[in-house]
Amino acid sequence: MRKKIVAGNWKMNTNLQSGIALASQINKLVKNLPDDSKTGIVIAPPFLHLSSVQGAIDNEKICLASQNCAAYPKGAYTGEISAKMLQSAGVKAVIIGHSERRAYFGETDETLSTKVDLCLENNLKPIFCCGEQLAERQSGNYFNIVQNQLLKGLFGLSPENFERVIIAYEPVWAIGTGVTASAEQAQEMHKFIRAIIADKYGSLIADDTTILYGGSCKPSNAKELFSQPDVDGGLIGGASLKAEDFIEIVKAI
Ligand code: PGA
Repeated sequence: MRKKIVAGNWKMNTNLQSGIALASQINKLVKNLPDDSKTGIVIAPPFLHLSSVQGAIDNEKICLASQNCAAYPKGAYTGEISAKMLQSAGVKAVIIGHSERRAYFGETDETLSTKVDLCLENNLKPIFCCGEQLAERQSGNYFNIVQNQLLKGLFGLSPENFERVIIAYEPVWAIGTGVTASAEQAQEMHKFIRAIIADKYGSLIADDTTILYGGSCKPSNAKELFSQPDVDGGLIGGASLKAEDFIEIVKAI
């Protein structure tokens, strides 16, 4: 059975103190969840906060993730943070290829594929983002766009490595805009993604792949989105910055 996951992407929000406070609040609310809750909970604070947040949460119940990692293993890359460093700080997962990284920092499919490899070599779970822009949605070309991102970023992996990846479908037009994809739009794309995974890796692996939806997911729409058969949870931006909202979304699974 594939795992259901709710992941919070804090982006470049909070300072160190308020970030630790947010993590502690989330930790407290997670403790009160029923013991049989099987939903995986992930938080991705800024790099600077990772070590402190690691000490503020129950790492058995909350998986610590980073929002990015370097495309190089080590060396003279001023300002970069390697996968190995993240692993040494207790990080377990890394968001790779968020549309903001693709758009503002010029990350290409090739760079992202290298980052995925570095994560896997360092025992970090990639949360690989894909999704079309508004013009691509409007032109009707969105399946091709997403298929290409997956082909170039992920489908070079061996089946064993592919099984270690989480996918997040995030239509760019829905991120931070308040416009959510409808449950039908999300389901249509998630089903398509699962079908191309099945073509490449077989239906057993496709059935086991966790595919998250991201883009203006909030307590009021999470239940409907998560009730779709191919939507296995969410990657949450804005609503993950309020502990109560984030936990409401966790409870919506
Ligand atoms: P949002 O962001 O929930 O604020 O739309 C989602 C994301 O970028 O992961």
